Amino acid sequence: MNIILLGPPGAGKGTQAKRLEDAYGLVQLSTGDMLRAEVASGSVLGRQAKEIMDAGQFMPDDLMVGMIESRIGQPDCDKGFILDGFPRTEAQARALDVMLERRGLTLNHVVELTVDEAALIERITGRFSCSRCGAGYHDRFQLPRVDGVCDFCGGTEFKRRADDNEETVRARLEIYHAQTAPILPYYRERGVLDAVDGMADIDEVTRQIKAVLH
Ligand code: AP5
Repeated sequence: MNIILLGPPGAGKGTQAKRLEDAYGLVQLSTGDMLRAEVASGSVLGRQAKEIMDAGQFMPDDLMVGMIESRIGQPDCDKGFILDGFPRTEAQARALDVMLERRGLTLNHVVELTVDEAALIERITGRFSCSRCGAGYHDRFQLPRVDGVCDFCGGTEFKRRADDNEETVRARLEIYHAQTAPILPYYRERGVLDAVDGMADIDEVTRQIKAVLH
C-alpha cells in the first residue's frame, strides 16, 4: 500500500505517519526529515536547505523529486510507503505519477488532515522531539510519560526545530495555501482523496485514517 498524507504544517502528518508505519509495516518518507538530515550533515545541499526552510519557503521541485525518486527505489520501500511532505506542488504531484507509473506502482490513498489553522501555531511552537530516536512530543498534547525521558529509547536530550517559530509558521501556512492546497482537487478527481478530522485527539485521528485505509 502506498499513501500520501496531506495537510498544512502541524496538521499531524509526521505523528500519524509514525503510527501507520508501525501498524501496516510501511516506510515513512518525510522530505522534511531528509532535508533536516542534510542540514545536520553540513552538506552543500544542507546549507542551501537551511536557508530556505528557516524562511518557510519550498525547496526546488526538481531537487525534491530526485530525492524521493532515489528513496522509492530502495528495497525497504517494496513493502509500501507513506509520503509525508511530498508532493507539495502541482509539479511534484505530476512527477510522482510519472515515477510511480515507471515502477508499476499504484497510489492507493491520499489522506487529507483537515485542521483549524488557529490551533496550528500552538501545535507547532509546542513541538519537540527526542534527540536520540526522533520520537515527537508536545509541551501540552503529548508529553513523555516520565518527565524528561523519551518513552521509546530512554533518551534524555530533546530538541526543537529552527523553523518552529510563529513568524516562519505563518510563512509556511501561506505557501501551503498558495502551492499545496491546489493539488487536492487533482487527487479528488481521481477518487483517491479522503479527508479526516485532524483536530480530533491523536488516537482518534489514527482510528479515522485506518478506517479510510481498510
Ligand atoms: P516538513 O518537515 O514536511 O514540515 P511541515 O509540512 O511544515 O509539517 P510539520 O512537520 O511542521 O507538521 P506535521 O503535519 O508533520 O505535524 P506533526 O505531526 O509534527 O517540511 C519542513 C520544510 O522543508 C518546509 O517548510 C520546506 O522548506 C521543506 N520541504 C519539505 N518537503 C518539501 C517538498 N516536498 N518540496 C519543497 N520543500 C520541502 O504535529 C505537530 C505537533 O502537533 C506535534 O507536536 C504533535 O505532537 C502535535 N499533534 C499532532 N497531532 C495532534 C492532534 N491530533 N491533537 C493535538 N496535537 C497534535
